[in-house]
Amino acid sequence: MCGIVGRFGDGDVVDSLVTGLTNLEYRGYDSAGIAVLDDDLSVVKQAGEISELEAAVAETRPSGSVGIGHTRWSTHGPPTDENAHPHVDCEGSIAVVHNGIIENHEALRNELEAQGHEFTSDTDTEVIPHLVEQALDEGADHETAFRRTVARLEGSFAVVVLCRDEERLYATRQGSPLVLGVDGSEYFLASDIPAFLEETRDVVYIEDEDVVTVSDDGFEVTDLDGDPVDPDRETVDWNPEAATKKGYDHFMLKEIHEQPHAVGQSVRGRIGGDFTDVQLAEFEPGTFSDVRNVQFVAAGTSFHASLYARQFLFDRGIPTHVYSAGEYATNPPPIDDDTLVVGVTQSGETADTLASLRHAQAVGARTLTVTNVVGSTAAREFDDALFIRAGPEIGVAATKTFSSQVVTLALFVERLVKDRTGSYSDDAPALLSNLSSLPSHIETVLHDGSVGHVMQRYRGEDAYFFIGRAEGYPVALEGALKFKEITYEHAEGFAAGELKHGPLALVGPNTPVFAVFTGRNVEKMLANVQEVKARGAPVIGITHPDHEAVTSVVDDVLPIPKTVPALRGVLANVQLQLVSYDVADALGRDIDKPRNLAKSVTVE
Ligand code: M6R
Repeated sequence: MCGIVGRFGDGDVVDSLVTGLTNLEYRGYDSAGIAVLDDDLSVVKQAGEISELEAAVAETRPSGSVGIGHTRWSTHGPPTDENAHPHVDCEGSIAVVHNGIIENHEALRNELEAQGHEFTSDTDTEVIPHLVEQALDEGADHETAFRRTVARLEGSFAVVVLCRDEERLYATRQGSPLVLGVDGSEYFLASDIPAFLEETRDVVYIEDEDVVTVSDDGFEVTDLDGDPVDPDRETVDWNPEAATKKGYDHFMLKEIHEQPHAVGQSVRGRIGGDFTDVQLAEFEPGTFSDVRNVQFVAAGTSFHASLYARQFLFDRGIPTHVYSAGEYATNPPPIDDDTLVVGVTQSGETADTLASLRHAQAVGARTLTVTNVVGSTAAREFDDALFIRAGPEIGVAATKTFSSQVVTLALFVERLVKDRTGSYSDDAPALLSNLSSLPSHIETVLHDGSVGHVMQRYRGEDAYFFIGRAEGYPVALEGALKFKEITYEHAEGFAAGELKHGPLALVGPNTPVFAVFTGRNVEKMLANVQEVKARGAPVIGITHPDHEAVTSVVDDVLPIPKTVPALRGVLANVQLQLVSYDVADALGRDIDKPRNLAKSVTVE
């Protein structure tokens, strides 16, 4: 939700700023801008995508060896040229990019306007350059002005400031991501590592309330009072190619095809003893021995992965609840002493999930984060972190991270059982050996090729429904989420048993129904298929092709290889990802950047 970059280089940084913004376009893309410092401070910004900014930059040709940039996902004010970042003070000498929300912006704006400052946008951000300007007018030096400004801000923010009179960047964060990339004497500030992955993999994660300054003297991190902080410098193991499409038309398609590798990475080195042992190096033996019940908090696709994992826990007799993070954060349920609260979040930056985990932590609960991003806020702020190791995901629609979340959670659940009872579940050997084969089973689905010809018959329908039971239920929800997210068509997922309690009223000949068969509850699923067929709806079964009881009833089949029911949902989900992609591509949708959506939702 908005991407910010800062760049301090040896030569002209304009191309690098634009590349950084392009790499962060998944965070927002309704307006964009840069500011660079040469003899003067030049700002180029406008509504529209980064490609349009690139054209404007080519026309106006700003240059400079220090600069900042922003790609926006609107929260305060519509996507107009005026509301695009960077924002400047009255004199145009202080430029600011910001990700997050300044909650007290109205009071600050009233105060600043009373002092004579003139605002030109509807944004909350614009108070920042005017606050810096005011502090400078009152005699503060630049650094003091920046610190005084930050001290006035309430809300969540990551901010980078560039002033006309100084070749220096000032940045800080409070609840929104900010990372520093270091490449010799050149520096990058960004909301996320892919912004600069082609240039360096050496990073410093900036903590909340730390202030980083970047100049010819190098970089310096201090706390809000100015006391030095000595942050760890780390090398990330993400491949720079991960930030490119590698010949695919879209990141989403590339990431769908990366699933065999992503899932392989998730389980690599974690299954031992000839499929009898789970090795999660993150946790000491017995870490979870006191856990009696589990609460998951998550949003969107991560919520569906959590619902999927709930089935693993149910099958092993562990009471489990899955909560939408937005609800949990504002209406939290009671938490027992022996409750483990698990935040599942690909990005590790989703504000609702962070707020939920913070609540749980504040009331004394044990917290665990399951995430893809090692340096993310969620990974660093809570008791334990477990990494899904899927590699960077750029497409706004989550794909490979769902599969990696599910398999990582499957391993975690077995580990939980072992800590609680002293031994793994009876299902563990079959689960672990099938987890090891899952990459090749996903490969089979990717090479199957049925989706194209099946979906030719079902384009342009009124609505698309998805049904399933047990692990097939979250897959139905996820299939529908993906479908609506990238095709913009009406799609809904249901627990198959719920159809007769209302949704059947919507079903008819122009509403294809995707039925997810995982090998569990087959009779009941077939009864639900008959219910929709009786209303004229065509049914596409996602099933093992030898399952004749199913294939003889449905109109079309999207096949999945045979594995344990617990993992068939992952394979079915890959077919459904391909379904959504196929329809969205045929409709010419902006698949990697669907309208109104951003990859990482850092506001509540
Ligand atoms: O980074 P997170 O996993 O916390 O993100 C949660 C949701 O915002 C995310 O899954 C969203 O629903 C995706 N765009 C779905 O494809």
